[in-house]
Amino acid sequence: MHTDRRSFLRNTAILTGGSLLSANLAFAGTPGLDLPDRGNFSIDGTSLRFRHPKIRSRQAFLMLADTHLFRDDERGKKYAEFSGRMAKAYNRTKHFETGEDTDPEVCFTASMARMTEKKQSHVALVGDILSFPAEAGVEWVMGQLSNAGKPHVYTAGNHDWHYEGMPGSSADLRRTWSAERLKPLYAGANPLFHLQPMGDVDLLIIDNSTYEIHPEQLAFFRERERKGRPMLLLVHIPLYVPGRSLGFGCGHPKWSAKNDRSWQLERRQPWRSEGHTRTTMDFHRAVFRSEHLIGILAGHIHKPSVDIVNGIPQIVCEANARGGYLDIELLP
Ligand SMILES: [Fe+2]
Repeated sequence: MHTDRRSFLRNTAILTGGSLLSANLAFAGTPGLDLPDRGNFSIDGTSLRFRHPKIRSRQAFLMLADTHLFRDDERGKKYAEFSGRMAKAYNRTKHFETGEDTDPEVCFTASMARMTEKKQSHVALVGDILSFPAEAGVEWVMGQLSNAGKPHVYTAGNHDWHYEGMPGSSADLRRTWSAERLKPLYAGANPLFHLQPMGDVDLLIIDNSTYEIHPEQLAFFRERERKGRPMLLLVHIPLYVPGRSLGFGCGHPKWSAKNDRSWQLERRQPWRSEGHTRTTMDFHRAVFRSEHLIGILAGHIHKPSVDIVNGIPQIVCEANARGGYLDIELLP
């Protein structure tokens, strides 16, 4: 019997509370079953496994998002009016597992130690690693990464490049501060999109931290789709899933200025009055119609969750400000 994984898992959502459920979701066929093998996906708390017939050797990497580091120094004094609110937002946090008091730097440092312990080759930093683009914060992260001695990939979140109250559109502010301050984090990669091969899987790292997708990012996704290799998409802002809040805001049909409740608090321009661009909606469609995407990894929400749309799982990571992380394995 042939079962299409799309119909098998169409629009299934696993809504989770404080911690992720344990689940093993077969994509219509695993070895030992009389079904075509399209791979499968499993999750146990903070451990994710993607198995796919095109993966020939095990790969493992760590994912972090939303550390919200607020380190600053003398150089940041002249930006204090733009960094003040976020500098206080995550000073003290409660660890997501132990409930004990902690803070973003302690959590990030502990995460770096995981990579050796878990034999992970890379770390993926999926946005809001910083609460604002202070030199001191960027230098601290780069020092931690250098000490860990493992390569990283990075995409910005909506806070990494944002000095609240500075004039300009989100796209302009992102362009400016990505170049001026966040540059070391990109290690030479294009800030808007880049590719990191991980064995037989391609990590597609796409910056959607303005909630929107640019035409060259859509073209990049389509070009990679044509290659036919298994792909994982890493974006800061989760893609719209029916029934989810506006936080799952990339491609959300209700995302528009009239539903933007935080533009005054965050002192930025409101979302686009016409809603998403056609390009963003086309991107959303292309992602969830992909034949080669094995999953989407996102942050932004600060609460772990798994949704499956058209057979493609989207996993949101707990905030690293509270110690959150995901151990990700790619398995043959
Ligand atoms: Fe965040």
